[in-house]
Amino acid sequence: MLNLYHSSSVLVAAVLFLIATAAASASRPVYSVTNYGSRADPKTDSTTAFLDAWSRACSDPRPSTVYVPNGKFYIRNATFEGPCRSNDTLVRVDGTLVAPADYSVIGDAGNWILFHSVDGVRISGGILDGQGIALWSCKLHGQKKDCPLGATQNLHISNSNNVAIDGLTSTNSQMFHIAITGCRNVNLQRVTVTAPGSSPNTDGIHVGLSTLVSITNSTISTGDDCISMGPGARNVWIERVACGPGHGISIGSLGWTYQEPGVENVTVKTVNLTETTNGLRIKTWGRPSSGFVRDVLFQHAVMEGVQNPILIDQNYCPGNRNCPGRASGVEVSDVRYWNVRGTSRTEVAVRIDCSKANPCSGIQMRDVALAYVGSGSGSASMEAAAASCTNARGTSLTYVTPVVKCS
Ligand SMILES: *[C@@H]1O[C@H](CO)[C@@H](O)[C@H](O)[C@H]1NC(C)=O
Ligand SMILES: *[C@@H]1O[C@H](CO)[C@@H](O)[C@H](O)[C@H]1NC(C)=O
Ligand SMILES: *[C@@H]1O[C@H](CO)[C@@H](O)[C@H](O)[C@H]1NC(C)=O
Ligand SMILES: *[C@@H]1O[C@H](CO)[C@@H](O)[C@H](O)[C@H]1NC(C)=O
Ligand SMILES: *[C@@H]1O[C@H](CO)[C@@H](O)[C@H](O)[C@H]1NC(C)=O
Repeated sequence: MLNLYHSSSVLVAAVLFLIATAAASASRPVYSVTNYGSRADPKTDSTTAFLDAWSRACSDPRPSTVYVPNGKFYIRNATFEGPCRSNDTLVRVDGTLVAPADYSVIGDAGNWILFHSVDGVRISGGILDGQGIALWSCKLHGQKKDCPLGATQNLHISNSNNVAIDGLTSTNSQMFHIAITGCRNVNLQRVTVTAPGSSPNTDGIHVGLSTLVSITNSTISTGDDCISMGPGARNVWIERVACGPGHGISIGSLGWTYQEPGVENVTVKTVNLTETTNGLRIKTWGRPSSGFVRDVLFQHAVMEGVQNPILIDQNYCPGNRNCPGRASGVEVSDVRYWNVRGTSRTEVAVRIDCSKANPCSGIQMRDVALAYVGSGSGSASMEAAAASCTNARGTSLTYVTPVVKCS
C-alpha cells in the first residue's frame, strides 16, 4: 500500500513535471527567420529577415528564441544589437549562413556577423561560411593595396556580457573567425573552425580586452593562430582544444602601444597541437610598453611535428622597423609549462627569448619532454632537441628535456 502510494505520487510528479516543461517551452516565443521573409537560397538576401527576427526577440521581455532552420541563407552583413529586454535570448541555428563571395560588398566594415552590447545570449549550432577565398587570393597573389584593409571577421562578439556559444562551426572566414572583445563571461564550447593552413590572417578565436572567457572541447584548423590573446585578455580558460594546421596558441602580439592593458590568469590545459608552426607562444614587440603577461599555466600539451613547440619571443620586429633599441617593455612573469610532450620540427624545441630591458621571471618547467624529428614525415629520425634561453630570471626546471640553460 505504502509502495503503491509512493509510486503513484512519483508518477503524478513526473506528469506535472512534463506539463510544466511543456508549458515553459510553449511560453518561450520562437521568432523563425522564415516568418520574416528569409529564403534558404544563397542567392536571396536574407539579411533584413534575420535582423527583423532578432529585433522582435530582442524587444520581447520574455526569454525567447530566434530560429534559423536548415538550409543556406545569404547574409550581406548583420549587426545584432543589444541591449535586449530579456537576459535570455537563444539563437538556435540548424542552417548555414553564407557571406558575400565578393569581398568588396562588406569592404572595410570589419565584421560580417556582429553581436554588440548584448547581455544573456546563447548561440547554438549553425555554420558560418565566410567565403574568404577571393580575399585570401587578393592578399596572396594580388595587389595588396586593392584588398580591403579591415577585412571581415566571421563572428564578432563585442561589448557584451554572459554569452554562450555551443556547437558552432566557422569556415573560411575572410579574416579572424571569431573575435571576443570588450566582453565579460563568454563561454565557447564544441566550436569547430576550418580554413586552409595557407589562408592569411584567419585566426581561429581571438580574445582581447575581455575577462572570464572559456574555450573548451573545440577543434581548430586554420591559417593563423588557432587561439590568440591580445592586450587585456584576463581570466581565460582553454581546455580540450585540438589545433592544427595553424600557428598555435598565442598570447600576443603585445606591446605595440605604450599604454596597454596586460594579459593575466590564462590557463591552457589538455591541448593537442598537430603540425602547427608554433605550439605555446608568447610574443611581444621589441618596443617600449607598460604591458605585462602574468600567471599563465600551460598544462598537458601534446605536440606533434610542431615547428616551435615552446616559444617566448620578446624581440618581435618584422623588417626591423619601428623598434627603437629593440627592448620590449612587456614584463613576462610566472609562466608555467607542466607536462608538455611530443615532437619538434626544428632542433630548438624550447626558445625563451626575453626582453633585455625586462627579463622574464618565474618561468617554471616541469615534465617537459620534446624530441626533434626534422622536417620529413613520420618520426623515423628522432633526435635530441636543443633549448635556448636568454634574459630569464628565476627559472625552475624539473624533468626537462632538452636541457634548458638560461643566460
Ligand atoms: C554593413 O556594413 C556597412 C559598412 O560596409 C555598415 O555601414 C552597415 O551598418 C552594416 N550593416 C549592418 C546591418 O551591420
Ligand atoms: C535574468 O532576468 C531574470 C528576470 O528579470 C532574473 O530573475 C535573473 O536573475 C536574471 N539573470 C541574470 C543572470 O542576470
Ligand atoms: C567535453 O569533453 C569532455 C571529455 O570528453 C566531456 O566529459 C564533456 O562532457 C564535454 N563537454 C561538452 C559540453 O561537450
Ligand atoms: C582565473 O581565471 C579563472 C577563469 O578562467 C577564474 O575562475 C579564477 O577565479 C581566476 N583567478 C583569479 C585569481 O582571478
Ligand atoms: C588529443 O589526442 C589524443 C590522442 O590522439 C586524443 O585521445 C585526444 O582526444 C585529443 N585531445 C583533444 C583535445 O583533441
